[in-house]
Amino acid sequence: MTRPDKHDFDTLTGNSWSVHGGNHADETTGAIRTPIVMANSYRLPEDPSDIDAPGYQGLVYTREHGANQRGLEEKLAKLDHGEAAAVFGTGMAALHAAFFTILNPGDHAIVSNVVYMRVAGLFTDVFPAKLGIEVDFVDITDLDAVRAAVRPNTRLVHTEVIANPDLRVADVPALATIAHDAGALLTIDSTFTPPPMMRPLDHGADLVIHSLTKYYNGHGDAMGGVVIGKRDLVEQTRTGAMWHAGGAISPFNAWLIMRGSTTLPLRLQRQCENAQAIAEFLESDSRVVHVSYPGLPSHDQHDAAVAQLLGGFGGVVAFAIGGAHGDRLRFVNDLRVITSAVSLGHDETLIAYEEYPEGPAAAFAQPFREHGLVRLAIGLESNDDLIADLDAALTTAYGPR
Ligand SMILES: Cc1ncc(COP(=O)(O)O)c(C=O)c1O
Repeated sequence: MTRPDKHDFDTLTGNSWSVHGGNHADETTGAIRTPIVMANSYRLPEDPSDIDAPGYQGLVYTREHGANQRGLEEKLAKLDHGEAAAVFGTGMAALHAAFFTILNPGDHAIVSNVVYMRVAGLFTDVFPAKLGIEVDFVDITDLDAVRAAVRPNTRLVHTEVIANPDLRVADVPALATIAHDAGALLTIDSTFTPPPMMRPLDHGADLVIHSLTKYYNGHGDAMGGVVIGKRDLVEQTRTGAMWHAGGAISPFNAWLIMRGSTTLPLRLQRQCENAQAIAEFLESDSRVVHVSYPGLPSHDQHDAAVAQLLGGFGGVVAFAIGGAHGDRLRFVNDLRVITSAVSLGHDETLIAYEEYPEGPAAAFAQPFREHGLVRLAIGLESNDDLIADLDAALTTAYGPR
């Protein structure tokens, strides 16, 4: 077996890369971690026009490149098996940049009809009116429906692997075939399924996008986003969307995400284990009307999840509870360990209950349309504490199990 060498990054694999990737000891101080470089400008070369030469590697200005951004990009590209990565200030900035790069006026996009709500908003409220983009929202788990939606001008198919919020699972290789046969690109939002759980580029996706705000950072204290894929397309995204539209990440946030990402594989393993046990607990509880979790055999796309995901089925569980709106609020507000807040992938468990308006909820399973959807984003606490908290709050709202 070849002995790995952290100075020759290409020899490091998997979890070693999560720890060492993109980190460079500081030449000036000898510090073993890349320091936070808050400068917004870097010294120019003797002839400043050199910066326009193709392939110029120097750092110039922090909206375009910075020391902390570059280290993070190096790490994230390799973790997702991509050639290159471009980091942004938020997940939405990264998603917008990817779509803005791929789509031109008059193009057609096929978008999953269950997708993060701000992405849905981009494709309903922004791109059609501002850029003349045509959009079909399609049940991405119905491959015939996806094929039927293809038009001569289809240039983009977009979905999440595990969809926010109802947790349906996309068949990424099948979607890649449909997209490529149509002459379109497949973009995958893999925020709910970071490596090592899933690497969409290995399954045929053209670009993978993450909100780094979630699992990568993992501590609920920084925002970021990334676009990963083939170098040409990533560089087009960086120059076309970030250099001109802004959206750069701050060096401090890049540093925080870099630090958080060193423990990503361990955290994810714990969150997946906790989520599986909690999904099983909720499914066995008669006070709970419906549970959606890709790791449950009852999940409609359980087989697709088993075929694509490694080491677990994600850290988010969606469920529906009966009674009136007030009962459900009583349940949420009686929780003591679990906090009512949006977001996911944090160290602490978060819960978000919402009665979705008819339009966005149209594709949900009937119990979610009728009773609203509770999204539980599992953290790192002891599972016994989480289950006891859920059980006690269910008892307050609905009586003993
Ligand atoms: C699946 C998914 N993609 C993208 C985003 C947007 O990321 P950010 O909040 O970092 O802009 C979110 C936010 O919740 C999300 O859940």
